[in-house]
Amino acid sequence: MSERPYVTLSCAMSIDGCLDSASPRRLAMSNAADLDRVDDLRSQNDAIMVGASTVRRDDPRLLVRDTVRRARRLSSGRPESPTKVTVTASGDLPPDAAFFTVGDAPRVVYSTTNRAARLRARLGERATVVGLGSHVTMAALLDDLGERQGVRRLMVEGGGRVLTQFLEADLVDELQLVIAPFFVGEPGAPRAVGPGRFPWTASRRARLAGTRQIGDVVLLRYALSERCDALGTDPSMLRDDVAFATEKP
Ligand SMILES: NC(=O)c1ccc[n+]([C@@H]2O[C@H](COP(=O)([O-])OP(=O)(O)OC[C@H]3O[C@@H](n4cnc5c(N)ncnc54)[C@H](OP(=O)(O)O)[C@@H]3O)[C@@H](O)[C@H]2O)c1
Repeated sequence: MSERPYVTLSCAMSIDGCLDSASPRRLAMSNAADLDRVDDLRSQNDAIMVGASTVRRDDPRLLVRDTVRRARRLSSGRPESPTKVTVTASGDLPPDAAFFTVGDAPRVVYSTTNRAARLRARLGERATVVGLGSHVTMAALLDDLGERQGVRRLMVEGGGRVLTQFLEADLVDELQLVIAPFFVGEPGAPRAVGPGRFPWTASRRARLAGTRQIGDVVLLRYALSERCDALGTDPSMLRDDVAFATEKP
């Protein structure tokens, strides 16, 4: 059995913990410099995952944008952009979404075994559809990514329901959390993390591994596993001429 992929959670939220507004139009949390950092992080991973709700609402392309990063990946024998991964119980994924139609990266869709057959018929060559029993757990999904899809590093970008499950199941090695300098304040806005039982509590505190100011946002990097120090994101990503601080236990 191969080792589980190294998992980095990456998201940007408002000061009051929202990933987006409740209105139909997507709310930009981050700034250009931070989006470039996220692009760099994407380029370091073998796969990028978002939940089906994010695919439907944001229609993300999930590509590495920077040409130098893409060329670097190609020269090391990897596709220009990481494998795209999503999960759905309803099977409601538009086949014409950018997730399926933009870029050459492989795409993997996880669902229940019952739903998988219908999804395969709907998506055809656009994606590999994997059925994982009567209920998809993030642990089973991660095992499949590692063992059958050859993924060693997974970046999970959201949304909140997916992030919450990875955190609750203690499957996260590293959390990169960006705080945008405003409040959303809407009751229906998606939260970065929902209610749950998490491994880190007041008596078992997570380790803050680094902070960085990027223009008007701040990046907090939490080490959530022992593997983080050995396998974690290139520390140069966190270096900044403006402000940089690390904290060791
Ligand atoms: N600020 C950021 O960094 C950031 C990043 C990403 C997303 N977002 C925002 O987050 C919002 C969406 O977040 P969200 O929490 O509503 O949704 P989400 O986590 O993106 O997706 C949830 C959906 O994923 C599927 N899913 C999740 N867990 C599953 C499981 N165990 N088994 C089967 N299917 C599962 C279900 O799809 P079905 O409904 O198809 O069954 C579920 O409705 C959007 O507004 C987006 O803009 C923000």
